Amino acid sequence: MLESEYQPRRRPPRQPLQPAEPEPGFAFEIRRARPEDIPDIREIYNHYVTNSVVTFDEKPMTIRAWKAKFAFLKKLGHPVLVAVSPSEQVLGYALVQPWRPRSGYRFTVENAIYLRPASTGKGLGSALLESLISASQEAGLKTIIAVISDSGAEASLALHERAGFIEVGRMGGVGYKFNRSLGTVTLQKTLKPNRPRKSPASETKKRRTLSWRRSKPSDA
Ligand SMILES: CC(C)(COP(=O)(O)OP(=O)(O)OC[C@H]1O[C@@H](n2cnc3c(N)ncnc32)[C@H](O)[C@@H]1OP(=O)(O)O)[C@@H](O)C(=O)NCCC(=O)NCCS
Repeated sequence: MLESEYQPRRRPPRQPLQPAEPEPGFAFEIRRARPEDIPDIREIYNHYVTNSVVTFDEKPMTIRAWKAKFAFLKKLGHPVLVAVSPSEQVLGYALVQPWRPRSGYRFTVENAIYLRPASTGKGLGSALLESLISASQEAGLKTIIAVISDSGAEASLALHERAGFIEVGRMGGVGYKFNRSLGTVTLQKTLKPNRPRKSPASETKKRRTLSWRRSKPSDA
């Protein structure tokens, strides 16, 4: 090839990142968790306690412990959200809790997000995390930290990076479960400053169904 014929390699234009779209036909609604959701939340979380290293808890959490946690987060005004099916089955939950107990950390929270195994990989995690970020902003929080196991939590890492979380550190061997050492990846997201609420009623419910998305395609 002559030098004059040489063309630099073409690079495809960068695509703006879009959150994963919910799978067609997979209908759910995201709302604030209620005390009656606690047994389902506990069941979902304990599945991962018993069967995975995505959480370093080793003993299933009791209903009593969940009730105490729920009351504590409610007192602080920290959001606890659930995604429910049209028949009101809890498909997953997401919450934020204090990052550190010292008062100077009061605007910084750590998040948790867990779905029923059958509800994973369909875009629900993205929708739930998006709602959790909005609810945290509305609650006046400033920073969300995600601490993710460095083993077996690829979906969680992808999910958080998609939502704009930035990796800020890794620690090796800080966890131990199922006879093996585990590390963590820490990611951080800085929230936008809180704006005054227009209507308290408008913030609590967000219907996420395919028909809703079709009728409002611009609401990404
Ligand atoms: C982590 C979790 C909440 C993600 O929710 P989800 O609904 O499965 O994820 P989504 O379908 O919204 O996909 C989000 C991103 O993760 C990616 N992803 C999904 N499953 C994945 C997997 N098994 N491996 C790698 N990436 C995966 C998706 O491709 C998508 O990225 P993209 O938009 O770049 O394509 C869910 O899988 C879950 O509950 N997992 C078990 C519990 C858990 O790990 N909780 C987090 C503890 S830190």
